[in-house]
Amino acid sequence: AIRAIAPDAVHRICSGQVVLDLASAVKELVENALDAGATNVEVRVREHGVECVEVVDNGAGVSEENFAALTTKYATSKIAAFDDLASLRSFGFRGEALSSLCAMSTLVVTTKTKDDDAGSRIEYDRSGMIVRVETVARATGTTVTLRDVFAPLPVRRKEFVRNAKREYAKLLRLLQAYAMISAGVRIVCSHQRAEGVRGGGNGGGRETVVNTRGGVHADVRSNVACVFGAKAVQGLTPVDAVLGADLGCRVVGLVSKAQAECGRAGGDRQFFYVNGRPVDLPKATKALNETYRAQFSVAITRAPFAVLDFRLPTNAYDVNVTPDKREVLLHSEKEIMAELRRVLL
Ligand SMILES: Nc1ncnc2c1ncn2[C@@H]1O[C@H](COP(=O)(O)OP(=O)(O)OP(=O)(O)O)[C@@H](O)[C@H]1O
Ligand SMILES: [Mg+2]
Repeated sequence: AIRAIAPDAVHRICSGQVVLDLASAVKELVENALDAGATNVEVRVREHGVECVEVVDNGAGVSEENFAALTTKYATSKIAAFDDLASLRSFGFRGEALSSLCAMSTLVVTTKTKDDDAGSRIEYDRSGMIVRVETVARATGTTVTLRDVFAPLPVRRKEFVRNAKREYAKLLRLLQAYAMISAGVRIVCSHQRAEGVRGGGNGGGRETVVNTRGGVHADVRSNVACVFGAKAVQGLTPVDAVLGADLGCRVVGLVSKAQAECGRAGGDRQFFYVNGRPVDLPKATKALNETYRAQFSVAITRAPFAVLDFRLPTNAYDVNVTPDKREVLLHSEKEIMAELRRVLL
């Protein structure tokens, strides 16, 4: 017989698709912080995320009438109608990230808006229902804490714990992508070992692993220096070019100079964005590496460092392609990539 799946089972099944791993969980929280207008975003990781991970922002905060809607599936403050996607400027639009995170972990929010005298601490259950609300002291902004990530999916939890260090490295790379492009926003990530682990516990050191400066003078170049060191920036040359007169597209960023010592052994530091949203653009990766290598008179295998933001009208691409929004459909992809090859050479 064909029978409807029980709602709570549907919730768990679908949520596992939105929150694939530790990195995508934190990505959703960082995007929410940026969407809330934060100028300071702090990611605090404990025991590579196995114990806990939290994102603290100084954004607008959540007002009390929205505490329940915060974790309601398909409830969002960012779009109201389908057509709004064509003019989307925010990272989020589906209203499913926090609801999915409730299903995948134990989620607690503390928040305060500028109009509130005190903050609130809200505990949610797996289905996103409020379990408890307490008054707490905090500055304006929001903190979302995730504990026991993937505990509701035992197989994934086991894999996560076993590969925690690798998962944590993935998270760092993702944060680096956001930290570099977010001019004017300070993004900090720190890591602390668990209690009882050597060098851990509250007496143990908290190590800062990503740290940009924020403020009005922070641009992508200074962010790259903060993330990868001043030396990494020296071999880079700025890119700012119109891609085709009638495509409405510009590419802006930094790329390695075509000198042997400026490239890298691998393509591990190639970051692509569409209007500031970190995305995977395999065709651009290919164009970048091929044009870079074509500038040398001998065959080389080195790959350039690159931070490239494609700026184009919001109706010229579609981000509603995959649950994690890492894939984008560019309407004039072929033309844009041909132009990219032309300007990079
Ligand atoms: N850090 C935050 N500060 C202020 N408001 C927030 C924060 N995080 C979430 N919200 C509010 O909660 C809503 C739900 O967040 P959620 O991430 O689930 O969905 P979304 O961002 O709207 O869409 P998406 O699922 O595509 O991320 C947001 O629309 C926003 O209004
Ligand atoms: Mg969101």
